[in-house]
Amino acid sequence: MIMGRVSKVLSWRFFILFSLTVNVGFFGSILYEGVVSLKSLYTAREDQTNMCSVKDHEAHISRSCSASTSITEIEDRSKKVINFDHGDPTMFERFWQKMGDKSTVVISGWQLMSYFSDPKSLCWFLEPEFAKEIVKLHKLVRNAITDDRYILVGTGSMQLFQAALYALAPPDASKPIAVVAAAPYYNSYPLVTDYLKSGLYSWAGDAYTFDRDEPYIELVTSPNNPDGYMREAVVNRSGGMVIHDLAYYWPQYTPITSPADHDLMLFTVSKSTGHAGTRIGWALVKDKEVAKKMTKFIELNTIGVSKDSQLRAAKILQAISDNCQHLGNHDDGKSFFKHSHRLMTKRWEGLRDAVRQSGLFSLPEFQPRFCNYLDRVAEPHPAFAWLKCEGDIEDCESFLRGHQIITRSGKHFGADSTYVRVSMLDRDETFNLFLERLSHINS
Ligand SMILES: Cc1ncc(COP(=O)(O)O)c(C=O)c1O
Repeated sequence: MIMGRVSKVLSWRFFILFSLTVNVGFFGSILYEGVVSLKSLYTAREDQTNMCSVKDHEAHISRSCSASTSITEIEDRSKKVINFDHGDPTMFERFWQKMGDKSTVVISGWQLMSYFSDPKSLCWFLEPEFAKEIVKLHKLVRNAITDDRYILVGTGSMQLFQAALYALAPPDASKPIAVVAAAPYYNSYPLVTDYLKSGLYSWAGDAYTFDRDEPYIELVTSPNNPDGYMREAVVNRSGGMVIHDLAYYWPQYTPITSPADHDLMLFTVSKSTGHAGTRIGWALVKDKEVAKKMTKFIELNTIGVSKDSQLRAAKILQAISDNCQHLGNHDDGKSFFKHSHRLMTKRWEGLRDAVRQSGLFSLPEFQPRFCNYLDRVAEPHPAFAWLKCEGDIEDCESFLRGHQIITRSGKHFGADSTYVRVSMLDRDETFNLFLERLSHINS
C-alpha cells in the first residue's frame, strides 16, 4: 500500500520533471528560431496588412487587425530569424486554401486497409486512381511522355531515387558503381547515396571531373537544384546510366519546351503542387526489368506506399487538371500553374530588385524560352535562388546568418562558399521580410 503511494508520487514527480525538460527544450528552440536578438535594430518598413495576416495565418484564426503598428511588432519583425535553408513549399498553401473542398479527401476507418492496390499490376501498391491522374496531368502540361512507360509510386521521389540506384547498380560487381552529378548538385544526393555504405553504389562526386573508364550512374536534375539551369547529362560515355530528376520541370519554375522523354524520370508532388508533407513521388520508367527492381526495393524498404497519401495526391492532381482544362485565360487565379507562375515571377522580380539595391550580391541570369503550356515566351523562375556574395565576402552563409537569414552554403552542393542556396518557396510574409532585409544589407 505504502509502496504503491510512494511509486505514485514518484511517477508524478517524474512526469512533472519530464514535462519541464520537454518544455525547456521546446521553448529553447522557439527562442533560437524566433528571438535571436539583433545588435542593431533593423529599420523595418512595416507592412501592416502583412503583419496581421502572418498572425492570422499562423494561429489559424481570423481577427481584425489594429490600425497602428506597435514598436514591439517592429522589433519582433526585425529580430525574426528567416530560415530559407529548406525548400519547404509553403507558398502554395494559400492557393489550396482557396480551393476548399475541391481538394479535400475523406477516408473512412474501414477503407484502404489492404496492403494491395492492384495485385495484377507490376507496381502492385500503386493506386490506379493516382496513376490515372499522373498520366492526365502530364498530357495536359506536356512536360513528360507517359506512353509505354511503367508508372511507379514512392514515399517521396527520394525513395524512388534510392530504388533507381538499387535497380541500376549491377548486383554482382566487384565494387560499388560510381554515382555522379554535375556540380553544383542537389546536396542530398551524396548523403543519400552513401549513408548506408552500400556495396552496390557509392558517391563519386562531380560529373564534370569524372574520368574513370568504368560503369557509372549520372544524376541529372533539370531544372537544377540549386542553380535553376536546365541540365543534360555531361559524362556521356558507354556503360553510363542516367536518372533524370525532374522535380522542378513544371510551368511555374521553367518554360515547358518539350515533353521529357528519358529512360528513368522522377517527379514529386512536393515541388509540383507544394504537397511535400504528403510524401508522394512517382517514376516513369521505360525498361520493365528496371521497373520491377525498383518496385522490389520499395517492397523491401516500406512494403508499398501509403494509400491514404496516394489518394490525397490523386485528388490534388485532379483538382489541378480540372481547373486547367475548364478555364480559359480569363480566370488565371484558379489555374494552379498560371497562378503560381505569376507568384514566382513577382518573387523573382522582387529578389532582383533587392539584390540591385543592396549591391553586395549577384544572381544567375536565365534565357526566356517559349513555354508550350503557357503558350508564350516565359522566363525561368527557379524554386531556389543561387545567390553569390560579391566583393570580399568569402563565407556567404555566415555573412547572411549575421543578418538573421539562414541559407545553405554552396560548399554542400560541390561549389564554393561564396554561394548560398535560398529557398523561394516560403510564405509571402516571410519572403517579403527577406526582400526587405536583403535590400538593406550594404555592409
Ligand atoms: C531535385 C530534388 N529531388 C528530390 C527532392 C525531394 O523530393 P521528395 O520530397 O519527393 O522526396 C528534392 C527536394 O528538395 C529536390 O530538390
